[in-house]
Amino acid sequence: MAISEHTKSDQVVADRGRYVARGVATTPLVVARAEGARIWDVDGREYVDFAGGLGCQNTGHGFAAAAIHEQVDRYLHQCFMVGMYEPYVEVCRLLDETWPASGVETKSLLLNSGAEAVENAVKIARTATGRPAVIVFDHAFHGRTSLTMAMTAKVVPYKQGFGPFPGEVYRSAAPYPYRGVSSDDALDALGHLFKQDVDPATVACIVLEPVQGEGGFVAMPPDFPARLKEVCREHGILYVDDEVQAGIGRTGPVWAIEHYDTVPDLIVSGKSLGGGLPLAGVTGPTELMDAVPPGGLGGTFGGNPVACAAAVEVLREVRSEAFRTRADELGIRVRTRLEQLAARNAAVGEVRGLGPMLALELADPTPELAKSVTSAARDRGLVLLSCGIYGNVIRILVPLTIDDALLERGLDLLEESLGDARAG
Ligand SMILES: Cc1ncc(COP(=O)(O)O)c(C=O)c1O
Repeated sequence: MAISEHTKSDQVVADRGRYVARGVATTPLVVARAEGARIWDVDGREYVDFAGGLGCQNTGHGFAAAAIHEQVDRYLHQCFMVGMYEPYVEVCRLLDETWPASGVETKSLLLNSGAEAVENAVKIARTATGRPAVIVFDHAFHGRTSLTMAMTAKVVPYKQGFGPFPGEVYRSAAPYPYRGVSSDDALDALGHLFKQDVDPATVACIVLEPVQGEGGFVAMPPDFPARLKEVCREHGILYVDDEVQAGIGRTGPVWAIEHYDTVPDLIVSGKSLGGGLPLAGVTGPTELMDAVPPGGLGGTFGGNPVACAAAVEVLREVRSEAFRTRADELGIRVRTRLEQLAARNAAVGEVRGLGPMLALELADPTPELAKSVTSAARDRGLVLLSCGIYGNVIRILVPLTIDDALLERGLDLLEESLGDARAG
């Protein structure tokens, strides 16, 4: 083929192959521009975005652009440890206002990534309790740093070859009703863990995603978080709620834990918090957060002012009644369509999720069909992601600002892609 016949995408893909480490997996999509729930590639093709930059665009591409531009003109970086600035403090104030219980004074710490925030929640929990151990669950994803890799529950591709991992991380069964694990089973397993592997008196925290994200969009059953909190209370263990993927309005309320009748000890946020800029947080009651003495927490870029300026807009938006109403509407609309689609497709095993954080689990626990669906979707103009311990879950992380017409188009493309993949 003559060089002139290459598309711009082909050229970038070739350069990426030459210059970018292959360990960073990518799809062939080469993005030129994005707005709301639409993406355009470098060859001018338009896509409906059902991935939201992996859950980072709950408020849509470009949502906080004006606030970002304004902050860029003021200053880009100070390092909060060198000179404090209002956007950081304002994000922490807004996070305090979103705490899912009244009458609790909270403080926050801001970081660059979800993994860094999870690590810091563990640091805080260890200092506050004076205990070393951490308990996590089957299908968990908490990040790719050394400690969070140990906490994450999938060997390939996240852990293979990267050990040894830090100690004092224990794993217990998580509820997964579709595959036969109930809340009772999971709590029994935790009891066994306390008998067999770790003395609960040495456990600093239990870390749980209210809806397991990378693990397959497994929403915790309604009773589980409160029963887990009771176990934590009995043993003096802190309950860390990892809301990096499920939080910031993804399930409707600001925090997914608001669907459940319990309040965690620490909340970890990330992804959509920065509206597309890297920002994550740990929030909790003052007495826990202040267990760490001055200098024990921080980092060069954590709570970058431009990311904080975006987060102020994002937090105001996801707390608004209009956002919540629309998110609830989208949840009903998408669930209805997915259930109709499932009724027509024997390959679909379950439709599940919480609010508009929804997914299809394919009955066959292998990744091939889901891969074909996401690839067919790209060919048809839909950006779609799979997940799950078996790689067989198709998840929807659409910006929650999408309009009805574009949403319906995306759902049509999803159904057609499932048809293509099954025929192929
Ligand atoms: C629940 C959860 N925790 C932590 C992380 C890690 O976040 P990051 O990739 O920003 O380090 C993720 C990322 O997908 C996540 O879904």
